[in-house]
Amino acid sequence: MKSLRKAVLPVAGLGTRFLPATKAMAKEMLTVVDKPLIQYAVEEARAAGIEQFCFVTGRGKTALVEHFDLAYELEATLKERGKFDTLKQLEGASAIPGSIVSVRQQVPLGLGHAIWCARAFIGDDPFAIMLPDDLILADTSWVKQLADVYGQTGGNVVAVEEVPREHTNRYGILKVGADDGRTAEVLGLVEKPKPEEAPSNLSIVGRYVLMPEVIGELSRFEKGAGGEIQLTDGMARLIGRQPFHGLRCHGRRFDCGDKAGYLEAQIAFALSRPDMADKVRAFLPRYS
Ligand code: UTP
Repeated sequence: MKSLRKAVLPVAGLGTRFLPATKAMAKEMLTVVDKPLIQYAVEEARAAGIEQFCFVTGRGKTALVEHFDLAYELEATLKERGKFDTLKQLEGASAIPGSIVSVRQQVPLGLGHAIWCARAFIGDDPFAIMLPDDLILADTSWVKQLADVYGQTGGNVVAVEEVPREHTNRYGILKVGADDGRTAEVLGLVEKPKPEEAPSNLSIVGRYVLMPEVIGELSRFEKGAGGEIQLTDGMARLIGRQPFHGLRCHGRRFDCGDKAGYLEAQIAFALSRPDMADKVRAFLPRYS
């Protein structure tokens, strides 16, 4: 079995729910406390042994790649001034030369199409997909938790969460077979089903480990829910041909593509940091 070394980060969406903030800036550059969402995702992947990254970008998203470049003048100035603690804070925002590539999705035709755009990068290897606007607060990286299950079961493993039944029409939903309460065998996948038609209330969230064969399925360019080329539809065609599991990961996910989810993430991440927790606890009661 090949080990997991690659991650694809689709960041070509329009981010309409965050306008006007995302008019000239990528949603994934929004910060939680002091770090952009894209950096949280890259750090989570690195903690799982991922060495190669592909950002699927669109127009106006160059800052995402530049964030991981050397900031030569800034770093030289900080060194000159002896600000070594501040310099240390830039460590997570650097990259091994050649470890980040970007490809363009010229028109946002859907998440499935964005992944297809990374086909040359993926080649014949298993790969992780990370949607950076799903932000994870956990002791163990979710990509690592998925990779560990992939190491046992082989095949495809996706992160899943129970959602309220009335919200199934916002997510990719699983039809579940054998289920031990943490890992569930996937028998079917449906994108955004109506609550009355949903096979369960177990939804896919923004972390996946997939086999390269999904690219062949996405090459059909079939439009699914919302007229978009859906990743869920491509994945569904692998069921029965390859092992496919859903994993309830340990830790919490914040939907930072949604304004309330993003604000909650700010509070939760600040409270999890020793340098911020007391300050936040001091002002929070004023707002309850
Ligand atoms: P979303 O559904 O959150 O869409 O995409 P969005 O455009 O980012 O945001 P809203 O809904 O307009 O506010 C989920 C993920 O898939 C990527 C997005 O960048 C995000 O990471 N995506 C989606 C693409 O890269 N290309 C697409 O064509 C669609």
